[in-house]
Amino acid sequence: MTQPRILVARAVFPETLERLARHFEVESNQSDESWDRAQLIQKLQGKAGVFTTGSERIDAELLAACPQLRICANMAVGYNNFDVEAMTARGVLATNAPDVLTETTADFGFALLMATARRISESEHFLRAGQWKKWSYDMFAGAEVHGSTLGIIGMGRIGQGVAKRGAHGFGMKVVYHNRSRLSPELEAECKARYVGKEELLKTADHVVLVVPYTPASHHTIGAAELALMKPTATLINIARGGIVDDAALAVALKERRIAAAGLDVFEGEPKVHPELLTVPNVVLTPHIASATVPTRRAMADLAADNLIGYLVNGQPLTPLNPSVIGAR
Ligand code: GLV
Repeated sequence: MTQPRILVARAVFPETLERLARHFEVESNQSDESWDRAQLIQKLQGKAGVFTTGSERIDAELLAACPQLRICANMAVGYNNFDVEAMTARGVLATNAPDVLTETTADFGFALLMATARRISESEHFLRAGQWKKWSYDMFAGAEVHGSTLGIIGMGRIGQGVAKRGAHGFGMKVVYHNRSRLSPELEAECKARYVGKEELLKTADHVVLVVPYTPASHHTIGAAELALMKPTATLINIARGGIVDDAALAVALKERRIAAAGLDVFEGEPKVHPELLTVPNVVLTPHIASATVPTRRAMADLAADNLIGYLVNGQPLTPLNPSVIGAR
């Protein structure tokens, strides 16, 4: 029997490719070449599945050009690169990689908060540049973390992980805003109080963004929201580029309308707004919140398991549009 053909669109662990090769005829991009859209469409011809990483846009136009495609498995929890509606309309299954990265990403959110509030990058650059000539009482004095107010926008699994770290580890008062309120049990577990977005922005010392990107969450934080924040506050974005208006943020940082920001994601990444590169009070990391070896392996395994589960056994693990299963 011939094996289904799949495409692995970006470089992954060799072990992941070996696992996939036991079930599929695999074409991979292990040299991690940058394919433009036409090349991706060409590579997808005759493929029943594709392993994506979040940088490949799967939409109606691509699906129309790749009629044999049955599943797109994203090695990411976020899936704003997928037009799930268009995929459902074509009977193409979409899967993502939830849960396996929750704690690692929450760890990173907290690391970024600490680095930003305590000015770790800025002070390290100062030291490396040979500028440290003497100790002084106010050198790199930052914002308090323990006991301060942590505001979380987006209280899914990762947001809850950040809340628990803040409340239980650092004695922070946690307020959150979300599309829907958590159950009283979950609120108690996270020691978190539900508030409106405006109250959160006005009262939090540290605002952490963990909302999925959708057209409705575009520029959740823009000039008007930044103006509500305390001048001593920090803003942390571990969600997606486009949740923050990066141009407005650069102005707010430059004019010290907020104290600092920590950003792991950017509008139009890997490009970064040039003004953000010039301000000292921002910590910038290249979309690495889930990047530990065990977690990235677990994400790759889950994407592979979804391809194997669906194309071999008809049973994906984490489908986003389960209605298409068996419909084609
Ligand atoms: C990373 O950004 C993810 O969505 O997994």
